[in-house]
Amino acid sequence: MFRTRRLRKSEGIRRLVRETKLSVDDFVYPLFIEEGENIETEIVSMPGIKRFSLDRISKELDEVVSLNIPAVLLFGIPSTKDDQGTETWNDNGIMQQAIRFIKKNYPSLYVITDVCFCEYTSHGHCGIIHDNDVDNDATLVNIAKQVISHAKAGVDMVAPSGMMDGTISMVREALDNTGFVNLPIMAYSVKYASAYYGPFREAADSAPTFGDRRTYQMDAANRDEALREATFDDQEGADILMVKPALSYLDIIRDLKNNFDRPIACYNVSGEYAMIKAAAEKGWIDGEKVMMESLLSMKRAGADIIITYFAKEAAKVLLKK
Ligand code: PBG
Ligand code: ZN
Repeated sequence: MFRTRRLRKSEGIRRLVRETKLSVDDFVYPLFIEEGENIETEIVSMPGIKRFSLDRISKELDEVVSLNIPAVLLFGIPSTKDDQGTETWNDNGIMQQAIRFIKKNYPSLYVITDVCFCEYTSHGHCGIIHDNDVDNDATLVNIAKQVISHAKAGVDMVAPSGMMDGTISMVREALDNTGFVNLPIMAYSVKYASAYYGPFREAADSAPTFGDRRTYQMDAANRDEALREATFDDQEGADILMVKPALSYLDIIRDLKNNFDRPIACYNVSGEYAMIKAAAEKGWIDGEKVMMESLLSMKRAGADIIITYFAKEAAKVLLKK
């Protein structure tokens, strides 16, 4: 008889045949940085995650560094918004200040910025509005301004998340023309129009004031289209391809892993975090175990990099082992 149970008999043998291992090296920790002073606000639907002003963020960054988490992904929350999100390319804007602050005080921490407009526009959409929809090509021009401003502030990698066509070509060209040929791009290649972003939009104050994002983010039903999106970003020169959200899209993570010779990232989004936290708070699941199991599933699906609000907690669990 085939007896697969022989290799499950004790922890010793289970360790020897274990195929996937999580490491703190896999994690990117997202941070919400709000313009202003003395701000440290709990996000109700994301227990343990806060919005910080720069004068209050050092404790958080000390912890990230002491846990050996390699990278952070920054989101800026500006004090003023307008219809184009012009603050995104203000060299003295909150994102630019945050980049300079972190690179100066925590030089070993790898700083990635989310490049988008929805936190910065009065209407909450990811670009310029014309005729009730985001104007793709007009938005590209502003994306170029935004990435150049982040690059000048000293960012290590940029991650455009707006799902405009031609973004990666535009960003690569903008960076190359300004001397940032060695600055990599992590493309939000396959980003679905997802209800799992709900808590994030509260956190980042970025919910659209009209309509939704279905004319630019992907339809959750589509798998072939994910390959098409990733192909364009790959050909346009993205260094890393990302899938978002993660848990409901593990098939897509594996598709990208099998089809592209690029590191694959996934974004374990706010709603995925909130669900586990809420069920754990109720005592209905073991929050720590479910957290580790779901992160492991992303790695097993093929993610080389996991962007997750669990990064600090998961790093602590890994340290105990
Ligand atoms: C901005 C952006 C969003 C997220 C990351 N970048 C929200 C959105 O597209 O509405 C979601 C992250 C999360 O839910 O954790 N374009
Ligand atoms: Zn956006």
